[in-house]
Amino acid sequence: MGLINKLKNLFSSENIIGIDIGDSLIKLVEAETKQNKIILNNLAVGDTPKEAVVKGQIEDVEALTAKIKSLLDNNNFASTKVTTAISGEQVIIRNVEIPNMPEEEIGEAVRWEAKEQIPMPIDEAVLDYEISKHKADGGYEVMLVAVNRDTINRYLELFKKLDLEPIAIEIEPTAIIRGIRKLYPEQTIALLDMGAQTTTISVFSNGQLLFTRTIGIAGQDITQEIVENYELNLEEAEEYKRDNNLFVDANLNLIIRNLTTAIYRSLDYFQVKYKNYDIEKMVLAGGGSKLIGFDTHLSNEFGIEVIPLNPLSNIESEVERLNSKELAEVIQLLGVSIGLALREEDEDDKSIAS
Ligand SMILES: Nc1ncnc2c1ncn2[C@@H]1O[C@H](COP(=O)(O)OP(=O)(O)OP(=O)(O)O)[C@@H](O)[C@H]1O
Ligand SMILES: [Mg+2]
Repeated sequence: MGLINKLKNLFSSENIIGIDIGDSLIKLVEAETKQNKIILNNLAVGDTPKEAVVKGQIEDVEALTAKIKSLLDNNNFASTKVTTAISGEQVIIRNVEIPNMPEEEIGEAVRWEAKEQIPMPIDEAVLDYEISKHKADGGYEVMLVAVNRDTINRYLELFKKLDLEPIAIEIEPTAIIRGIRKLYPEQTIALLDMGAQTTTISVFSNGQLLFTRTIGIAGQDITQEIVENYELNLEEAEEYKRDNNLFVDANLNLIIRNLTTAIYRSLDYFQVKYKNYDIEKMVLAGGGSKLIGFDTHLSNEFGIEVIPLNPLSNIESEVERLNSKELAEVIQLLGVSIGLALREEDEDDKSIAS
């Protein structure tokens, strides 16, 4: 990072660090948009300490604190404001119908719906909602989001230990869409974020999230299948996974088949519920989706164009530590963290805690 940027970091109160704490990797990003391009101002990626995060839930605050502190210190992050996102299995999302009523009463109506629809006591949950559609009869379609309060408290404890000020805690699909919708503003897009332990499939149209579902099959399950079939250790299996096209290997299709079926079910559910929307493209994000041949496989299965979240033509990097080859390696991992870092540019965005 050049001196000018460093000074900007020190003196601008606007900068936010987007922190995506995955089960396998932690990603930190500072970014902004200029003329429809996303500019990366700073970036760091590091391994999540073993078992410190399990399916999106923080299990070891101490280990995470130490790791994130070293990533911040070693990479010249100067801002103390952060945003983060909670993922998949910790998040409950329901689409609910609310009858015609003044908008200021929707919150209360959503709370009543939540009591019926979410599988946890309402006082243990942090609730939020977003109106996804104003219906012709004056009613609303609302996306209700609920997260266990304890899950959020662990994030807050982490940031307190790090002396960071959380501006917002969001859900991953909302964050990731913030970046992508700048690239595909008017389209209906299915987004597949495949991480280490969970895969999230979301659909958004005109920049708005319509649907999201988490599947508990992801990168680690595929590695595990390679371990078992080819008697390799974890490290060897990880390398094998990155170097081979698994979609043409008959020994290795159980996990992929289960995952494909689960994706199919989610998209089918979406299509039945939202008949007026046609999914135009599928965008792949997350490290797990970097599998060789994954795009072709999905495209054959679902008959739509499948593209990686690798929009290098729309992303510029001012991070001097990283050459363009290294950037291309990691860009697909950064969907959530870039979206989080761009939060300040969309001030009216909702979050589950702010
Ligand atoms: N080139 C590659 N080919 C296939 N898989 C890869 C490749 N590079 C990374 N991965 C896989 O990506 C996963 C990590 O991706 P990512 O950082 O998106 O996950 P995470 O966010 O830490 O996990 P989660 O989203 O489940 O919490 C690992 O399972 C890793 O094996
Ligand atoms: Mg992830």
